Amino acid sequence: MKHIDDELLNSLREQAAVASNNAYSPYSKFQVGAAVIDREGRVSVGCNMENASFGLTQCAERNAIATAVGSGSKAGSLMTLVIYVPGKLALPPCGACRQVMHEMMAPDSQVIACCDGEDVKTWSPQQYLPDAFAFHEY
Ligand code: THU
Repeated sequence: MKHIDDELLNSLREQAAVASNNAYSPYSKFQVGAAVIDREGRVSVGCNMENASFGLTQCAERNAIATAVGSGSKAGSLMTLVIYVPGKLALPPCGACRQVMHEMMAPDSQVIACCDGEDVKTWSPQQYLPDAFAFHEY
C-alpha cells in the first residue's frame, strides 16, 4: 500500500520535520511534527502544543488535521498524513489521534510515521483503528 512516490513522501517528511521544530513542549521536551496532504495536493502541517494543565495538550497530528479543515480541506479528503519525530524510532499515533484520523481522512488514505533513521511505519485506517466507532452507522 503506497499512494505516494518517494519525492512527495520526502517533501511531506521535511515539512513535518520543520513543523516539529515549532513544537511547544516544555514539559515532555518531545517534539512531534505532522504534515497532511489532501486530494487536491494541499499540504497542512502541525506540531504538538502542551499546556501546564497537562490534559489540554494537543498532538501534532490533530493540529495538522485541524489546520487542513480550517484551510478548506473536506472531511474524507485527506490522503496521506506523515508524522515525524527526531531520533531513531518512528512514532505510532496515539489513540485519540487515530479516532480523529479515521473520521477526517479518506477510506483509502494512509498514515506514515518516520524519523531520522530507517524506521518507517505505514498504516491504513483499517490497520490503525479496526472496528472504529462511526456515529453515522447508528
Ligand atoms: N504527541 C503527539 O504530538 N502525537 C502523538 O501521537 C503522541 C504524543 C505529543 C503530545 C505530547 O506533547 C508529547 O508528544 C508527549 O506525549
